[in-house]
Amino acid sequence: MSHACIYLASVVTVSLAMCQPLHAQDAISLGRGSYLVNGIAACTSCHASEANNQGDPNLAGGRKFGSGENQVFAPNITPDVETGVGSWSDTDLIDAIRNCRRPDGSRIGPPMPQTFRFMSDADIKSIVLYLRSLPAVTNKVVTKIPIQNDSTSTEDVKAVPSPDMTDPIKRGRYIADGLAHCSACHTKVSPTSPEFCALKNQGGRLFKIATGTLVAPGITNTDLASYTDSELINIITKGTRPDGKKIIGPMPVTAYAKISAQDLSDLIAFLRH
Ligand code: HEC
Ligand code: HEC
Repeated sequence: MSHACIYLASVVTVSLAMCQPLHAQDAISLGRGSYLVNGIAACTSCHASEANNQGDPNLAGGRKFGSGENQVFAPNITPDVETGVGSWSDTDLIDAIRNCRRPDGSRIGPPMPQTFRFMSDADIKSIVLYLRSLPAVTNKVVTKIPIQNDSTSTEDVKAVPSPDMTDPIKRGRYIADGLAHCSACHTKVSPTSPEFCALKNQGGRLFKIATGTLVAPGITNTDLASYTDSELINIITKGTRPDGKKIIGPMPVTAYAKISAQDLSDLIAFLRH
């Protein structure tokens, strides 16, 4: 069993455990929520309304993904009661982010990352606290023609403890999977697919871009061996490769530019392990 599989299995197992004591660093806070939403978890990269997508944390939605029959619009996730998620309870919001399920039971499909199921209770609660603190913006997002949900499992995650803060690799794995959702794009299949463990971070997921199809490259230790740590950090936070060429496609580098030095260092430790 690969390391990734053990990790995936452990999330399900610990979901049965009762509340774990929170690490001091893990207090539920607005500051943490803002860091996650605007930075490392990159919610802004999809949910910010296009008109207002210049560093302004307006999550009123409307951005279109896909085309033709297969299109979906990022919903308004501000606290507006009519057009946003103002009438949702905390549990509703947590369930939507973590299990990709709306209060009416419908599934939330890609490109909403299906990997927030690995996010800890403390972090997801900080996100909810932060979302609730935002101004309610009225913006009715028209249709929801769901892109087929690639989840093969409907097993809900109920609770996730905070990662071991003393181990950079475990922390980095949590940052990559639970927060920055690298594996959501850099793996061919959904995290709930049985193949996910074997294929994790090996690349192969396809993205349609204006000029054709982009294939997500693998980001395993072997794939990244030719990059130095600072070259990797430049790719992740600036979208610039060592030869100066820019990364194209959906990788949310503007949000990743806000990742802290400590989190980047743990992320690299994980990518290298
Ligand atoms: C890669 C793009 C992307 C990212 C990143 C993303 N989302 Fe989403 N999200 C979407 C899309 C698209 C939908 C709608 C999918 C559908 O209709 O099936 C959605 C749906 C939702 C919904 C359901 C809202 C409703 O009215 O149906 C919530 C809540 C939500 N996202 C919160 C978040 C939060 C919080 C984050 C960051 C932790 C986040 N999303 C990150 C694209 C994204
Ligand atoms: C929304 C999808 C998406 C997310 C999330 C994402 N990436 Fe990417 N990433 C891509 C795509 C697509 C490319 C290829 C871009 C290109 O070819 O210009 C890429 C390129 C890369 C590269 C360059 C690889 C090479 O061989 O040159 C690295 C390194 C990388 N990503 C690491 C990460 C890490 C680490 C994370 C999480 C912190 C992450 N990515 C999150 C889609 C994503």
